[in-house]
Amino acid sequence: MEMTIISDDMRDFIEGLPKAELHVHLEGTLGPETVLKLAARNGLDYPFKTVKDVENALNNRTVGLVSFLDLHYLFVSVIKTREDFYEVTYEFLRTCRENNVVYVEIKFDPQFHTERGISFYDMIQGIDEGRKDGYKDFGVEANLIMCINRERTVESAWEMMEQAYPYRHLITGLGLDSYEKDNPPSKYTEVYMKARKQGYRVTAHCDVDQEDSVEHIWECIDLLKTDRIDHGVNSIEDPELVKELIKRDITLTACPTWRSPYPEPRDLERIRKMYDMGLKVTLNTDDPAEFTSGYMNQTLIGAVEGSGYTKEDLLSFMRNAFEGSWLPQESKDRYIKALNDYAVSRIRRLH
Ligand code: ADE
Ligand code: ZN
Repeated sequence: MEMTIISDDMRDFIEGLPKAELHVHLEGTLGPETVLKLAARNGLDYPFKTVKDVENALNNRTVGLVSFLDLHYLFVSVIKTREDFYEVTYEFLRTCRENNVVYVEIKFDPQFHTERGISFYDMIQGIDEGRKDGYKDFGVEANLIMCINRERTVESAWEMMEQAYPYRHLITGLGLDSYEKDNPPSKYTEVYMKARKQGYRVTAHCDVDQEDSVEHIWECIDLLKTDRIDHGVNSIEDPELVKELIKRDITLTACPTWRSPYPEPRDLERIRKMYDMGLKVTLNTDDPAEFTSGYMNQTLIGAVEGSGYTKEDLLSFMRNAFEGSWLPQESKDRYIKALNDYAVSRIRRLH
């Protein structure tokens, strides 16, 4: 579909819309200034000295998950202390407020941090304090999803589960992310079974256009028994899978933006298809500081410009997000009521 420039009225509607985001990596929210600030504060001998250096590195990536992740981890390596985790979490929630995101589920990667000598305690305390102060100061509610880095060993995932055990009341969900090639969901069937027994909600990345993406989605729902799939765009290639995802009421957290300032038309078209087929799909930013596509407002503006979504469609995406969230039912009801009130107030204003 042709790109259209949205009206001021639609922009205003998007900015005012109460939003939920279910797929964003804490470590993907580090802008160039933060990367440099933390590298200096922690006394690192860091390859990037200026904002321009960081921007050049972002611009020189090749397309694809591997190139993205290689640079991503170089940025994330600047996080060292409890205070760093606190600040990054708190500042992200400030950005949520600016985008009228009222509820967010934040992913983070414990193994990458603990392998660098940071204790699980410092990491989780910093994040949790940032989340609590963010709620107090910005009114943004956040829940946490710890992710297994899938390229590591299964033993390392078990170790992470053990380290997390004393803090499980602070962590709502378990996810699976990072390098997908040769690391199918089935590698973690037993870990997921245990996690569900321990009370975690579960999701997993099935990233876009990976080898065996469709098979990986089947494994998630049949073996890991995930409540959600992160991305899952390739599901539309298999009608049986689409039917099953709808039957089991699985939420798919799509991320329409990648590297360019506007969503790649390829993904936008497929996300539109997911939506039209009746899949419970949501729109998310994934790694907002590294995708150069901005946070939720900009992401929704891009989706409307690329796919022609109406206000009703945007309300449906947000309803899907609140319903597919891991909030208690009474909180979901409260947020969905606020969304419906917003819809009514905007419709009145239109007439
Ligand atoms: N870790 C951080 N961002 C990720 C992404 N987009 N896909 C997989 N793993 C990630
Ligand atoms: Zn992701």
